[in-house]
Amino acid sequence: MKKLVILISGRGSNMEAIVRACAAQRWSARVAAVISNRPDAAGLAWAAAHGVATAVVDHTWFQGRDEFDTALVQTLDVYEPNLVILAGFMRVLTSAFIQRYAARIINIHPSLLPSFTGLHTHQRALDAGVAVHGATVHFVTAELDYGPIIAQGVVSVLASDAVVELSARVLRLEHNLYPRVVRWFIEDRLRLRNGRVELTAVKTRLLLDENLV
Ligand code: GRF
Repeated sequence: MKKLVILISGRGSNMEAIVRACAAQRWSARVAAVISNRPDAAGLAWAAAHGVATAVVDHTWFQGRDEFDTALVQTLDVYEPNLVILAGFMRVLTSAFIQRYAARIINIHPSLLPSFTGLHTHQRALDAGVAVHGATVHFVTAELDYGPIIAQGVVSVLASDAVVELSARVLRLEHNLYPRVVRWFIEDRLRLRNGRVELTAVKTRLLLDENLV
């Protein structure tokens, strides 16, 4: 039984999708804890209401990144995670932290990486006039929003789209994409070796929105 720990900072809808998929699909895993760097993260209440242990490591309690990450490691390691899942976790992590969980820490980013790293990805996609946009799940490395790509989900950008419509379309896809990838890891079908993603018995790592054409 693998142990998952999910780090959030806010709404936690990706965390929710993973917790639900874990139960509904009877993964050989359990979400051991949800940890937030913000005490007011809405996802914390949802997790607690669904019987998942929660913890807060508030970054404002600490002088700098090193101190925060040290405290985060202490809290995380209580749960002995096989996989650390960043799901809307809005803190840049130190390389010491990332090294510690190397090959067992993943993130979802709301763009088709390597396009649009960083923030405001949906607005930037609209500004750039791209025809497709989406989300990427990747292993986390020291470089922000880079790291070996595991899977990507693609949506159309419509002429009528504003950020609200486009972000909602991408988020729906994220809720499908992220649990799939976590499941591959749990079933030992996904691993990172020598900096490369290795997948076994995975038909495709591309997920297309149903209305893509
Ligand atoms: C998602 O769009 C995710 O890709 C990004 O932050 C957002 C988090 O949303 N990293 P939620 O907290 O999972 O609802």
